[in-house]
Amino acid sequence: MYRSKITGLGKYVPENIVTNDDLSKLMDTNDAWIQERTGIKERRHIKKGDGNSTAVMGVKAAQIAIERAKINKDEIELIVFATLSPDYYFPGCGVQVQDLLGLPTIPAIDIRNQCSGFVYALSVADQYIKTGMYKNVLVIGSENQSGGLDLTTRGRSVSVIFGDGAGAVVVSRSENDNQGILSTHMHSEGVHAKELALIGPNTGHWVPLLIEESATVKDEDITYYPYMNGQFVFKNAVTRFSEVILEGLAKNDMNKEDIDMLIPHQANLRISQFVQKKFGLSNDQVFNNIQKYGNTTAASIPIALTEAWEEGKIKEGDNVVLAAFGSGFTWASAVIKW
Ligand code: UT7
Repeated sequence: MYRSKITGLGKYVPENIVTNDDLSKLMDTNDAWIQERTGIKERRHIKKGDGNSTAVMGVKAAQIAIERAKINKDEIELIVFATLSPDYYFPGCGVQVQDLLGLPTIPAIDIRNQCSGFVYALSVADQYIKTGMYKNVLVIGSENQSGGLDLTTRGRSVSVIFGDGAGAVVVSRSENDNQGILSTHMHSEGVHAKELALIGPNTGHWVPLLIEESATVKDEDITYYPYMNGQFVFKNAVTRFSEVILEGLAKNDMNKEDIDMLIPHQANLRISQFVQKKFGLSNDQVFNNIQKYGNTTAASIPIALTEAWEEGKIKEGDNVVLAAFGSGFTWASAVIKW
């Protein structure tokens, strides 16, 4: 068995900054409410005509990650792309990346695990490297959420939270057995699938039907905007975050004192702070940037990981823990010896 490690990281966020005050011009909300409940000050939204899309942003992040991994792009043998906001209903964004990066006809896998998508994708990459099948895998988390949000008062409890952006890592075979991804852990609980979901359009309720209904549909029956049972999701998140971090620590004979850096999925600053308190971690041991970007779903962990690394907050030999929870419900963690 081989060990895999992250050899390059990159991020890209659209230039267009949308502040809480900007949103309050579109809907009945305000900066104080958003900051108090979520910690978010601003987020990025793709601007029509800026050339960005989920795949394009993913490529921009990937180019930086590949350069930092010091490999030629042709050495990548597999693309794993995580998103809940693909450019097309099908095919997935992975094949667009293969084309846009001008890669040989390598395989591309798309992961649909929402906020846990990046950790799931990392786990997939890790397995392929562990078995010896591939040496270099490109893992991307990217989201264009703004294109699908209800930016009116009706959608305010969901729309103020989410933002656009992308993060990417190159995962490579490690030369050092004691360094790299030590373990990944994944879970799902589909009984709660509808508590955080965008139900339609779907194959049982396709676009022509939605158009036909659009004039008469009641607000509570709209299926083409994301729905979230906020408080229920929040309660589950704090429990599952803690469980899956503990699972990762136990697997590696570690205690909470062994965590050098926790990178939680940026769902809500209050969730991160709850987990920080529960594990007795200092501000330096937990990385948060939700204040700047909002919740970027599958992109949030790779963006945060990249920024933490760029700011010199992750050093060789550190125990880095990634943890996520989101729609599905799905949750996951990764323990990495940097
Ligand atoms: O990333 C995937 C996982 N996602 C999460 O983990 C998110 C988990 N949930 C949350 O982060 C929080 O539940 C929210 C931030 C979504 C909402 O915060 P909350 O403290 O649970 O607020 P609430 O939904 O209970 O709403 C409280 C009040 C309501 O008014 P009333 O009924 O008390 O009069 C809402 O209508 O706040 C109102 N409200 C707003 N007010 C101003 C809801 N959204 C807004 C808004 N601006 N944007």
